[in-house]
Amino acid sequence: PIIPILLAGGAGTRLWPVSRDALPKQFLPLVGERSTYQETLLRVKDGMFGPPIVITGPNFHFFARRQAEEIGVDVTVVIEPLRRDSGPAIAAATAIARQRDPDAVVLALAADHIILDPEAFRVTCAGGRAAAEQGAIVTFGIKPTEPKTSYGYILPGEPVGAGDVRKVQQFVEKPDTATAARYVMDGYLWNSGNFLFRADVMLDELARLEPAMASAVEAAAADATDDLGFLRLDPAAFARAPQKSIDYAVMEKTDRAAVIAGTFRWSDIGSWDALFDITPRDNQGNVLQGPVVTMDARNCVVHSDHRLTAVVGVEDLVVVSTMDAVMVVPRARSQEVKDLVAKLKTDN
Ligand code: GDD
Ligand code: MG
Repeated sequence: PIIPILLAGGAGTRLWPVSRDALPKQFLPLVGERSTYQETLLRVKDGMFGPPIVITGPNFHFFARRQAEEIGVDVTVVIEPLRRDSGPAIAAATAIARQRDPDAVVLALAADHIILDPEAFRVTCAGGRAAAEQGAIVTFGIKPTEPKTSYGYILPGEPVGAGDVRKVQQFVEKPDTATAARYVMDGYLWNSGNFLFRADVMLDELARLEPAMASAVEAAAADATDDLGFLRLDPAAFARAPQKSIDYAVMEKTDRAAVIAGTFRWSDIGSWDALFDITPRDNQGNVLQGPVVTMDARNCVVHSDHRLTAVVGVEDLVVVSTMDAVMVVPRARSQEVKDLVAKLKTDN
């Protein structure tokens, strides 16, 4: 079976004030009743997959285990001593997967995405599996709808074997707007940030392309210790890993990258606006969550955790009210919440 590894260590700052350092978005029920972490686990609760490995930080491992138990999934939770971005996280979880099975095929999954058609997602995984077994690092491409600069862009090339997998001719992480606009015209796909590969292939590529990261992480995984049933990576070794995402570390440079276009509806809920895009709206085009009242409001997101929150006569706004913070931002500027959080951190 394919071993899923879930990356559940991100900060999710653009969904402030709901997503916090103390409880980031992947563990929150942002759409529906379950967290995106739980939905991700349920997506791979299927005969094609083995028991998942979750990698997260030292403040979230209990959350990760409890939320998995709530939905009846048995997980191995790996604790990474500090945040080093997705490169070291994927590498460490992959090294643990290879300890279990030297021939493991691994599916690296972001735990903070929404996929509305889990069956279509599994069909895409099945479609990429043979190529991954033959040594490709397979990414799932999404047809772009706008020139977003927060994504990786993929130019598909030659077909790989039968089926729908193509070689990646070019992979560009987070291009500027003008370049992204050109890519959208030229038939590039967005990188969804989920990857299917053989554990040994990924670790070999990493050893070639990022030797410092590979050796630090391999040592951290080899010296991992049991801690109340959690697997704690060796802190000194892991701290030597450079901070870099898998996209810059491997995907932009490797010639083993391949892509399969996903037909599933996907969102990385990277901002309140993205949440708006993927959530069903009412007759006025609003997304309303919690104790919320509107009059003559259109195309707004209004979210309240506790307090009754009312809006009148506004359009295209995001209004978020929690116990200790209220935030209002035009929907089109919801990317800037990230800068707002940075400002809050330096001001306080
Ligand atoms: N465990 C762990 N530790 N997980 C991490 C860490 C870390 O230090 N840093 C990031 N992650 C997790 C995030 O929670 C997320 O699930 C995933 O790794 C990707 O990291 P992001 O920080 O969200 O990356 P991004 O959104 O800027 O870009 C990636 O995803 C896009 C699609 O959503 C790239 O892969 C892009 O190419 C892609 O288009
Ligand atoms: Mg992301």
